[in-house]
Amino acid sequence: MKYFIKHPFKAIKALLPKSMFGRSLLILMAPLVLIETISAYVFFDNHWDHVTKALANNIAGDVATVIALYNQSPDEAKFYKYLAGNNLKLRTEFIPHGVIHTPLSDDLKDGFLNSALKKHVFTPYTFHIRGKEIVIEAKVEDGILEFATPFKRLYDKSFSLFMMWVALTSAVFLLIAALFMHNQVKPLRRLSIAADRFGKGRSFPSFKAEGAVEIRKVAQSFLDMKGRLHRQLTQRTEMLAGVSHDLRTPLTRMQLQLAMMTPSAETEGLQKDVDEMNNMLEGYLTFARGEGLEESRDTDMDHLLKDVINGRAQPEKVVHYKSTSLPTLSVKPQALKRCLMNLINNATRYGQEVWVHTFADKDHFIIKVEDNGPGIPEEKVHEVFKPFFRLDPSRNQTTGGVGLGLTIARDIAQSHGGEIRLSSSSLRGGLEAALVLPY
Ligand SMILES: Nc1ncnc2c1ncn2[C@@H]1O[C@H](COP(=O)(O)OP(=O)(O)OP(=O)(O)O)[C@@H](O)[C@H]1O
Ligand SMILES: [Mg+2]
Repeated sequence: MKYFIKHPFKAIKALLPKSMFGRSLLILMAPLVLIETISAYVFFDNHWDHVTKALANNIAGDVATVIALYNQSPDEAKFYKYLAGNNLKLRTEFIPHGVIHTPLSDDLKDGFLNSALKKHVFTPYTFHIRGKEIVIEAKVEDGILEFATPFKRLYDKSFSLFMMWVALTSAVFLLIAALFMHNQVKPLRRLSIAADRFGKGRSFPSFKAEGAVEIRKVAQSFLDMKGRLHRQLTQRTEMLAGVSHDLRTPLTRMQLQLAMMTPSAETEGLQKDVDEMNNMLEGYLTFARGEGLEESRDTDMDHLLKDVINGRAQPEKVVHYKSTSLPTLSVKPQALKRCLMNLINNATRYGQEVWVHTFADKDHFIIKVEDNGPGIPEEKVHEVFKPFFRLDPSRNQTTGGVGLGLTIARDIAQSHGGEIRLSSSSLRGGLEAALVLPY
């Protein structure tokens, strides 16, 4: 309630439907209901008052007539009774020596019937409702006259009938509108599912662009974009395959020539360079190969993690991982293995011990790899993702590597709609690499 007073618009917004379908229906329904309420109120309230007043006057007039006739000649009471009962629907009874004791109740006092009776009947009177009848008692000379008339005489049914018809037809038309609206929103819903899956690197069933022109255009553009991206990806892979082929031949030739030369300090240096070029080429090829063309599959995460840990490059280093039942995620298993392998190999390479933990929240599945190595200084955290970037620029053989591991890992994470976060591990002192995957 407090929130409602503080942020009335936000509170109302929170109550309104979120989906396109709900909103469209509301836009359709709100004016309809409003117009009906206003017209019913303005027109019928007025009209109803009018009609009820006329009907009340009618009854009061009849009652007054019978009282006047009775007063004129009480001997003819039987005849009046017959007349009123038959022709006026006014059952009349004379109660000799009767007195009026029930006073008029407050809610009837303000009604139309009371003001009509006041105008026409000049003797003391009262009335009340008994079952489906209105009973009016009026004082005459030596007793009271009691009139009973059906309540229907005072009440006009057309109003409730009208309201019923309005509500019923509105409901029917609304149902038809909802059906049509549902069909309009369907292609949009399909598109949003496809876009979501595409963003997470998963396959989605192909669909035809259909629906309203605008939606059709968006869907077509989306399908075109998908095609373009796919083409680009294949082109990149093909081009790199071509380059590798072209570069490998001269490199092999160089290696052969080096082997035939008499060994010296120069040839040794050259040999190192050629080896390094070979390594870089291999690394680059790994980067370009496969991933993107692999299809997503439901994969057991615990299985995948155990596979990666068991296949690490340095089995002599300890990796702490407690196997538990983990969710099954739709991922590209080969690519994701390569990604995690890079993180774990980094951790074992730069640290002595490694800890692997998993977390899950509503939208994400997170795998954390921590080590007790030197870590990465905060200002370098973004740089290490760049291709061929290494913190140790000497290309030290013992720490190996060409500097593509994290580039590849991030590429794979992003192709799954996720990311890699690097920070320093507060518990272990080294690097903490977190792979965040969307569900
Ligand atoms: N766990 C870690 N602890 C400390 N430094 C790290 C860690 N992981 C990565 N780095 C630093 O980030 C740099 C980039 O890492 P990346 O994995 O991209 O390349 P690499 O490990 O050197 O080579 P490779 O291509 O074989 O993986 C590394 O050279 C290293 O300096
Ligand atoms: Mg690495």
